[in-house]
Amino acid sequence: MKFFIDTANVEEIKSAVAMGVLDGVTTNPSLAAKETAPYRELLTEICKIVPGPVSAEVLATEYDGMIKEATDLAGIADNIVVKIPTILEGLRAIKSLSGEGIKTNATLVFSPSQALLVAKAGATFVSPFIGRLDDISQNGMELINQIVTIYSNYLFDTEVLVASVRHPIHVVEAAMIGADVITMPYAVISKLIKHPQTDIGLAKFLEDYKKAGKS
Ligand code: G3P
Repeated sequence: MKFFIDTANVEEIKSAVAMGVLDGVTTNPSLAAKETAPYRELLTEICKIVPGPVSAEVLATEYDGMIKEATDLAGIADNIVVKIPTILEGLRAIKSLSGEGIKTNATLVFSPSQALLVAKAGATFVSPFIGRLDDISQNGMELINQIVTIYSNYLFDTEVLVASVRHPIHVVEAAMIGADVITMPYAVISKLIKHPQTDIGLAKFLEDYKKAGKS
């Protein structure tokens, strides 16, 4: 399973890289809006820090604008993946961009039928937003199950990128289903390593050794 960080914050990305388990980055307009540097500048820096896929989202909502922005974003670095909203115009854009060899990430996916369509259009990644489904009392992880089954039935190459992740249980459940990628906020990545019994056990080991007069 590949681990991506869901942030546009360079310091968080550097910390996640230092953990040694980071494979890529996802950003979106809301995340970019939290940072002071312009989006293009941020993406250029992020692509230098992380060699893996870096998702950058278009703001246009009609086909021509999406293609123009996607072409510009793809020119930033070889590892840019262009995030396209899963709407009708976006589906057309994904089809055209994949024909031109530009990698795409179909974002804001909330149903298996949307995931089926973007795979047929040639999306590189599909991003189902599981936390936002959980927020409205629908089972986000069930959507991952459905998409993984559909893609496996028809051998689609599109990678399932679990997004809108809120906590470590999402990570474990997505891994058990066999999702290809998960993108997490820094807070979630940091929690994956933590267990109170590990800390208690370590403190006890060190205390026992010290008590025995060893140094
Ligand atoms: O980057 C897309 C997705 O991960 C957003 O998550 O927490 O805003 O629902 P969230």
